[in-house]
Amino acid sequence: MPNFTIDELVIPANIDAPDAAGFIEMTHVRNEIEAETMGNRDLAYEPAELLPHWQDPYQPQICLVARIDGRIVARAIYETPIEEGSRDAWLGIEVLPAFRRQGIGSALYERLDALCTAEGRTVQQGFFIHARSDQSEQLASPTGFGSVPLDNPETRFLLARGFELEQVERVSRLPLPVDNGDIGALLDAARSAAGAHYRIVRWTGRTPGKWLTGIALLHQRMSTDAPSAALEVSEERWDEDRIRSLDDRRDDSPRTMLVVAAEHVPTGSLAGFSELSIPPERDRPVEQQDTLVLKEHRGHRLGMLLKLANLQYLAETHPGHPAVTTFNAEENRPMLAVNEAIGFVPIAYAGGWKKVLSAG
Ligand SMILES: CC(C)(COP(=O)(O)OP(=O)(O)OC[C@H]1O[C@@H](n2cnc3c(N)ncnc32)[C@H](O)[C@@H]1OP(=O)(O)O)[C@@H](O)C(=O)NCCC(=O)NCCS
Repeated sequence: MPNFTIDELVIPANIDAPDAAGFIEMTHVRNEIEAETMGNRDLAYEPAELLPHWQDPYQPQICLVARIDGRIVARAIYETPIEEGSRDAWLGIEVLPAFRRQGIGSALYERLDALCTAEGRTVQQGFFIHARSDQSEQLASPTGFGSVPLDNPETRFLLARGFELEQVERVSRLPLPVDNGDIGALLDAARSAAGAHYRIVRWTGRTPGKWLTGIALLHQRMSTDAPSAALEVSEERWDEDRIRSLDDRRDDSPRTMLVVAAEHVPTGSLAGFSELSIPPERDRPVEQQDTLVLKEHRGHRLGMLLKLANLQYLAETHPGHPAVTTFNAEENRPMLAVNEAIGFVPIAYAGGWKKVLSAG
């Protein structure tokens, strides 16, 4: 057993602060582990891009780091919803490949488990990207859609600790640029299917005051309307203050957010939205964030319209990025159908895992 220590990581006020070194090192460790699992750096984040996520007062997180001789070799995440009555905790454990199979992952899990017990969090959950393994037998998702390799270390680790696979998400990638003619034709078809009752509005960065309430509702519904299988997801409370807090954190990030929304013209309210997060360097992929059409506005091709309108906005304002990446539940056929029609292809799969502890 190596001599390692486990401590809570300091989350600095900003990336130039004197106490930011640990956070910066943790981000590089995160990226190394993800690159090994994914086989590329498509989803890597720079420390200044990751920091705002750790400063969200609405989604408090604790990061534990394991160190050997002062160097960070592993990290664990403990995230808890603030919603009244929620009993779920979202966990993550990642160990650098050279330090695996030495008990560090187990020790980190024990610390997370103790935190859950201390705080009465009886549902432990997490999403983990599984490295592709064509040789391995597959563990099927109980949703009936998708599977993960049974023989992978993380699958063995989770099963040995009593976790069950609940859902599989597909990570997809759209190579850019998309042919302008293709986008134009699909966009025209989606626009005429949506009809005159819907109009696209779009902006970069902070939410215009006019749309604060509408965007708050869309974020709240994102927590209840996206397919979550048997995972426990608390309904999040979103209001104008929470949107402004999100805007502030996005302002602090070097990334740029492009937002496209569909206005329902007769009522002047928002029916759906789609967000793209753009890194400052042109050679890095763009990340698709939330896309949602309110239930009462489905069936008008708004999902397709929103995605295409944002890809067009991206091509106009930030051309030259190599790709767009996105995560979708494997059973989310309507969203996958849109993505596949546009040209997204699967590049990886993530498992949603859950363990229910007996209360008390
Ligand atoms: C999963 C992971 C965190 C395990 O970390 P680790 O430090 O290697 O874990 P440990 O040494 O404490 O292993 C504990 C147990 O997990 C299981 N396990 C871990 N790696 C395994 C492997 N390669 N094959 C089979 N079982 C394995 C075993 O039951 C092992 O106990 P044992 O060594 O007594 O047989 C690590 O492989 C990792 O970081 N993977 C990438 C990130 C990830 O997928 N995280 C999500 C899982 S929480």
